[in-house]
Amino acid sequence: MIKTAKAPANIAFIKYWGKKDEKLRLPMNNSISMNLSEVYTTTSVEFSKNLKSDTLKIDGKFPEDKEKERVVKHLNLIRSLAKTDLKARVESRNNFPKGTGLASSASGFAALTLAASGAAGLNLSEKELSIIARLGSGSACRSLPDGFAEWKAGDSSETSYAYSLYPPNYWDICDVIAIVGEASKKVSSTEGHVLAESSPFFRARISGMPKKVNEIKKALKEKDFTRFGEILEEEAVNMHAVMMTSKPALYYWLPETLITIISIIKWRDEGLESYFTIDAGPNVHVICQAKYAPRIKRRLVKLNGVKRVVINKPSTGARLI
Ligand code: PMV
Repeated sequence: MIKTAKAPANIAFIKYWGKKDEKLRLPMNNSISMNLSEVYTTTSVEFSKNLKSDTLKIDGKFPEDKEKERVVKHLNLIRSLAKTDLKARVESRNNFPKGTGLASSASGFAALTLAASGAAGLNLSEKELSIIARLGSGSACRSLPDGFAEWKAGDSSETSYAYSLYPPNYWDICDVIAIVGEASKKVSSTEGHVLAESSPFFRARISGMPKKVNEIKKALKEKDFTRFGEILEEEAVNMHAVMMTSKPALYYWLPETLITIISIIKWRDEGLESYFTIDAGPNVHVICQAKYAPRIKRRLVKLNGVKRVVINKPSTGARLI
């Protein structure tokens, strides 16, 4: 039985950076995100007695050893739940460049979890799927539920999962992504999380998290776009300050990242309201009210170093197709 799943990438408004349990991928803090309509992974999985080993294809290529190992480990987890030892054929496609901070591991592991568990005959709840996806890549747990999601940090594997705060049509906002770098990053987020604690600012960041999470949830509830934007922008800079001050230091930004940031602030001062956020990569996510998205795109494409611009609406979570 072949199962195919489509899962969105998600953008974190309150970010996950640093783990309290490395193996279980339990984060230090709750995080808040939105699923993205135009950046996603589609994955097909089939378990078969005709296969001698797992056969993987990602974006038409056989993955390198490290990537393959991570996928096989995830398949092993699903096999153990389904009590099968059949090998799998996995074919996965991203409609965007992977490994550039556009959350390909989030959409990738969400799609793999849903397709593989379905193909193995498991009938899991959204919460169970979110927990399993988290074990593949932390932020993947937020790509299962619909729309705007909160990942509860929890204190065990069973209590660390994401759920939907609001459906996609709750709020008419967009994430206009300015793609300034398409090369794969040198330090993966999995490696980066381990470094977080070495920043002198990490403890301060974590101690302010519960308040920040409550404040953004309040702004989301009240649809207070200005407050919402101020919090998510401050949060992005806060996380990158920790990255840049860890040992060794992690610079995910490119010069074009800063050009984009400064332009957004300037346009805002002139009356075009939007706020930026950045995950583990150089690309800038511009959060705005939907009515301003085309105008922001027109301006972004003219900036030095901006290669492509993608307008995203809030999206549903992972689905079997
Ligand atoms: O799930 P990971 O290990 O790819 O980490 C994601 C880290 C950030 O994208 C920077 C933040 C987040 O919460 O998505």
